[in-house]
Amino acid sequence: MKDMPLFAGHKQIENHFGANAEIVLHHGAAEDFLAVLPNNTVQLIITSPPYNLGKEYESRVSIAKYLETQAEMIAQLYRVLRDDGSICWQVGNFVEDGEVFPLDIYYYDIFKKIGMSLRNRIVWHFEHGLHASKRFSGRYETILWFTKSNKYVFNLDPVRVPSKYPGKRHFKGPNKGMPSGNPLGKNPSDIWKIVAQDWEEELWNIPNVKANHPEKTIHPCQFPIELVERCVLALTNEGDWVFDPYAGVGSSLIAATKHNRRAIGCEKEAQYVEIARQRLAAFFNNELPIRPLGKPVYVPTTAKSFVGEEEQIQMRIVGVYSFNRGKEIIESEFKFELREIEEAIAAVDSRKHKTKVSKEKTMPGKMLYMPGSLNEAFKKAFESREWKKHKVKCEYPTEFYKEGYKPSASARGAFREIDFVKNRIGVEVQFGKYAFMVYNVAAKMTIFHNLDIIDVGVEIVPVKDFADDMSTGVSYFEQFVWDLENRGVSNIDIPVLILGIAA
Ligand SMILES: C[S@@+](CC[C@H](N)C(=O)[O-])C[C@H]1O[C@@H](n2cnc3c(N)ncnc32)[C@H](O)[C@@H]1O
Repeated sequence: MKDMPLFAGHKQIENHFGANAEIVLHHGAAEDFLAVLPNNTVQLIITSPPYNLGKEYESRVSIAKYLETQAEMIAQLYRVLRDDGSICWQVGNFVEDGEVFPLDIYYYDIFKKIGMSLRNRIVWHFEHGLHASKRFSGRYETILWFTKSNKYVFNLDPVRVPSKYPGKRHFKGPNKGMPSGNPLGKNPSDIWKIVAQDWEEELWNIPNVKANHPEKTIHPCQFPIELVERCVLALTNEGDWVFDPYAGVGSSLIAATKHNRRAIGCEKEAQYVEIARQRLAAFFNNELPIRPLGKPVYVPTTAKSFVGEEEQIQMRIVGVYSFNRGKEIIESEFKFELREIEEAIAAVDSRKHKTKVSKEKTMPGKMLYMPGSLNEAFKKAFESREWKKHKVKCEYPTEFYKEGYKPSASARGAFREIDFVKNRIGVEVQFGKYAFMVYNVAAKMTIFHNLDIIDVGVEIVPVKDFADDMSTGVSYFEQFVWDLENRGVSNIDIPVLILGIAA
């Protein structure tokens, strides 16, 4: 490993701790590295420690020895932690010969003995995993959040999630008509359903490096950046130090850096340190795939879920195209509306709309999706979230006819409409011909902006694979995006986020 700082973007990655550093990534053992960290420095220590539980002893003995070493380490971590700081310790269950050893229960005593207070035992819930046959399948890991004192940093607002019914109001009493929930959203609670099915499958499908999840590397037990982001935002302030003593491929460092915190990581395996460096560099170059923070968390993000006995296959966003900076603007200025759009898409159970049997010679008997019925489902999903159709009556001008021409009937009752509007975002769901897609972005969105109804737009279209499974020939994301890329942006276009969806 080179002992040179790496310049990545505008932040330098140092190999050794220094008070003026922004990012420290140390290759070596955490026990040794800790000795150089000053007392009372770090605001948040967040990590998933190695289990290192060999089979040479009977498990309980092995665990006792392991915890002894970990207790020494935790005492050092306590020393470097600020008085108002926190430790987030993420562990799962250690299983040997079918017996489960819940590591957080073992760890609790260690933290308690050194005087720390538990604030939450957060359950990180998975939808998928190994299927047990002699016990119930395990579907969670935990994060123990301890603080060093009773005076600790806790910022709830940056990590609020949208309320299930954001527009809900008191219907009686002195506050009648007033919003009944916090307009910034609700407390995310201590059960976090952060990751999507693709992540979970990768987590267990080791070492499949053809990962579906945008963040996955060769590390077998990497955790999602989003998981750390929530802790960073809630438990630290900008400029604070965040430390991961078992940094792996640097997920904590990326999460901290992303939110303008200073980051320290230590990792003993050279190959993981190298990947962590590459990921940080990619992050600064805007090339690191990260699952965005704030994907709906109370709606399962898995493609499949179960409602009662029935399997449901949710619609997923698989393509994202930013037309005229639509993605950036909507992600920063219409965060909650975007979450609702994502939820509405996930609320559509695609299976219910695969009802038409193909009569085509090339695919006899194949079941196809019905665009009309999908449209209805989207309507329901958006309207239940208080997104409303906006209709504008058109008075067509007559002064452009040539003299002598008189139309036989005036175009009465003509109108233009946009599928769903809320808080000045216009959404169009388009399972139709190509011309409609182009019209929406190149004309309709601008017209509705000129009519002072919307500022930005979202266009939801199928990707090619999904369009190919529809009962009528519909256009698709890939073709649309290609054309928009080659068309460019004009000064009358408004920002539009184009979402490609699939089942
Ligand atoms: C569970 S993984 C952490 C993965 C990390 N959370 C991520 O997202 O990449 C634990 C890591 O600790 C490293 N490790 C084990 N013992 C260590 C030690 N004594 N000092 C530093 N790193 C160590 C392992 O190589 C492994 O990468």
